[in-house]
Amino acid sequence: MQILQGKNIVLGITGGIAAYKTPELVRRLKEQGANVRVVMTDGAKAFITPLTLQAVSANPVSDSLLDTQAELAMGHIELAKWADVLLIAPATADIIAKIAAGLANDLLSTLCLATAAPIVVAPAMNQQMWHAPATQTNINTITSRGVHIWGPGEGEQACGDIGKGRMLNVEELLELSCQFFAEKTLTDQHWVITAGPTREAIDPVRYISNHSSGKMGYAIAQAALNSGAKVSLISGPVSLTAPSGCKLIKVESAEQMHQQALSLAESATVFVACAAVADYRVIEIAEQKIKKHADAMQINLVKNPDIVADVAALKDKPFTVGFAAETQDVEHYALGKLQRKNLDMIAANDVAKVGQGFNSNENALTVFNGKEKVAIALASKAEVARQLVALIAKQYQK
Ligand code: C5P
Repeated sequence: MQILQGKNIVLGITGGIAAYKTPELVRRLKEQGANVRVVMTDGAKAFITPLTLQAVSANPVSDSLLDTQAELAMGHIELAKWADVLLIAPATADIIAKIAAGLANDLLSTLCLATAAPIVVAPAMNQQMWHAPATQTNINTITSRGVHIWGPGEGEQACGDIGKGRMLNVEELLELSCQFFAEKTLTDQHWVITAGPTREAIDPVRYISNHSSGKMGYAIAQAALNSGAKVSLISGPVSLTAPSGCKLIKVESAEQMHQQALSLAESATVFVACAAVADYRVIEIAEQKIKKHADAMQINLVKNPDIVADVAALKDKPFTVGFAAETQDVEHYALGKLQRKNLDMIAANDVAKVGQGFNSNENALTVFNGKEKVAIALASKAEVARQLVALIAKQYQK
């Protein structure tokens, strides 16, 4: 089942340039099963047409408090009651001020007063306007009344300024929406997750590593957080932003990851080893950059500790899940690792298949626990992670 299945989202769009992103937001929310009804201010209609939003939402767009037709059935009250959440994105300084003041002089501000549903605003404005004392006071006021504020993000703005005030991107808004509605079933659990590659130094400027992007491990961390778990993410070097709310422990080498994993595993309920740990490390790391004199050279390597196997060997071991990235005989190798490393579950993926696994945004897994085999079909890593977390939670609670 999709996370937003059957959820009613009223999307309020106000007059900011980020309004051009809202058709994509509506499309993505609907993809996750949400019903979306759009309310637009006059300012919003200067940036994007109601016809576009009507087409993507498959619902009529509301834009007027004084619409005789809609108000025959008390349209604003009906919309206010229909909503499971009122999400305003982009939210201008103006709508934020109106909510703070309790004004009700157009349809959207009226809805804010008339709805019992939670209200979320995703601010979007020039950085100077965001930092203005009036805006900050208004943000404090509405936060203290329980309005949720998502963002704003930082970066280059449409006006050329650089700073805080950008509306969060569609992917971030979608993730926060899923997080908002996800059932919090893991609140008393501590999940420790390893992610990304490790780097094994050769000398001060060179290292041995692999192509792992860390995306799958980070998606699992996000999915576990969404379900209410406390999450520690032990990550090798990646170019990803850690999900907010998790404890990020940055490491480079397998030995550092091993040390952190064993120390955190003591308080973990679930341990997920998603990292692509280098099998070997250099025995003697050169203190200075190695010079290229000889035509050939040798580097002597020694085996790294097996992190997941050592966690699984703990007396009081957490529910331990490993990954098996294989290019052939996937099931055979995965089951071998499940047994040899004393794991409770192993998630296998065929990295030889185009479009899944290393560096891609999608994945497909076959999960084994020694008794059953469950297939998670090709989907975004976020969706695959959600299904895997649900599977682990179900198995762990048995
Ligand atoms: O043995 P192999 O590397 O194929 O096993 C993969 C699984 O073992 C993954 O879950 C990986 O994170 C974990 N692993 C580990 N420490 C190692 C090697 C692999 O935790 N040194």
